[in-house]
Amino acid sequence: MKQTSTEIKMTHAEAIGLLKQHDQSHVLQFLERLDSAQRDGLLNQVAGLDWVTLARIRAMLKHTPSDGAAVPVSGIEPAPVVSLSADKQAEPRATGEKALGSGQVGVILVAGGQGTRLGYDGPKGTYRLAPLSNVSLFEIHARKILALERRYGAPIPFYIMTSEGNDAATRSFFDENKFFGLSRERVKFFVQGTLPAFWPDGRIVLESPGKLFAAPDGHGGILAALDRRGMLADMQARGVKTLFYFQVDNPMVAIADPVFIGVHLQHASEMSLKVCAKRDPAEGLGVVVVREGRQAVVEYTELTDAQKSARRANGDLVFKFGSVAIHLFSLSFLQREAAAGLPLHQAHKKVGFCDEAGTLVKPAKANAYKFEKFIFDALPDARTAVILEFAREDEFAPVKNAEGDDSPETSRLALMEKFARWMSSCGVLVPRDAAGRLVHRLEIDPVYANSPEELKKRLPPGFSIHADVLLK
Ligand code: UD1
Repeated sequence: MKQTSTEIKMTHAEAIGLLKQHDQSHVLQFLERLDSAQRDGLLNQVAGLDWVTLARIRAMLKHTPSDGAAVPVSGIEPAPVVSLSADKQAEPRATGEKALGSGQVGVILVAGGQGTRLGYDGPKGTYRLAPLSNVSLFEIHARKILALERRYGAPIPFYIMTSEGNDAATRSFFDENKFFGLSRERVKFFVQGTLPAFWPDGRIVLESPGKLFAAPDGHGGILAALDRRGMLADMQARGVKTLFYFQVDNPMVAIADPVFIGVHLQHASEMSLKVCAKRDPAEGLGVVVVREGRQAVVEYTELTDAQKSARRANGDLVFKFGSVAIHLFSLSFLQREAAAGLPLHQAHKKVGFCDEAGTLVKPAKANAYKFEKFIFDALPDARTAVILEFAREDEFAPVKNAEGDDSPETSRLALMEKFARWMSSCGVLVPRDAAGRLVHRLEIDPVYANSPEELKKRLPPGFSIHADVLLK
């Protein structure tokens, strides 16, 4: 569904004709009951429907098993992965730093998701995660960009994808926080599209008598949204050639890592990915594969248990490397892919709906299908692609769940352990208890130091730790 707006208008007669033609006449069944604002809203939603995508969805639903299970992926082999030891990093780093210094790098953050698993009400980026300063995920990310702009003396435009449900709250959060020191002119928000939910027979779900159920169309929706919202043109106008892409939930991400950029540029790669070894077979990471001779990512929900846990003779998982949704794109690839019809992924979900009487119903079990596009499905289209291994403990500790693995607690701990390693590498003694746990909480603002090398230059002589440390 395209973004609704007051300009999109459709007469009742046009809507009736179109919906009839596509077997969706039930959408207007409550029209008589609606006031004029509700009617306009519904007609705008109908006018915004993308009938080509809807036809693809109906075709998919015809082949969906009646239990709603996804069809397992077959014919996949693990993809080749590049590992770069520390002594091989100087050259790509210099290449990456040159690109950063010449203002050719931009950053894309996808933050349109609904954060349901974390159980946090509000855009996930506003979640206060930092161990001591308690600043938000957005602030942690923004300060890294500010640090890079200062270090390389060049602007880094920051493109943030929101969704209809969190766009206003995201913009006001940046506004209230004075854009965390970034230049407002270089922070661009853009809203992704939506897709309706469907009954198993292919009819669109009505959320209420005057409203289609609509949810964000997945981060793959970014390809079309970047184009439609003028972001590709903005990148071009600013002379940006390489885009670093990441997700809002990972405070450890090395934004615009120069080594990664250097490897990407040296291989003339169109799309590059960072991967790390999976923690265990069940970890929720998409894995990198080769399918029909092309590199691809298969989402964890689409692998069978046998595929997830298959091992080689040496004990390694066959599909060992997980994608952590850290990518680089060349602008020309994004431009070419803007019109790509990425595959749709379906999920059987509980979807609130209104019944024949117009009464709202909250189902107890999965009743309808939602559809999303995934950005990593662009990978097979890349003429050249590099998949680079990195050390998880330095760059990946996402906040996905309220408790347990990948929770705020594990993420904060991973951040503090990283700062502890940086301090140790500067010769600072980091106090630990008998069980090896940190005695004091540690935090370093990215603008103070964004790497162990920067920390070494900033730390005052004789620095030692006797209490919680917040360096900023
Ligand atoms: C995601 C990846 C998975 C990867 C893992 C790494 C998908 C489908 N899977 O899993 O392959 O290994 O992260 O942490 O993405 N988002 C939008 N719009 C949307 C949906 C999501 O902007 O319509 C954004 C979210 O705000 C978030 C990111 O995409 O920043 C990831 O979404 P989420 O649904 O949490 O993905 P995961 O299942 O954790």
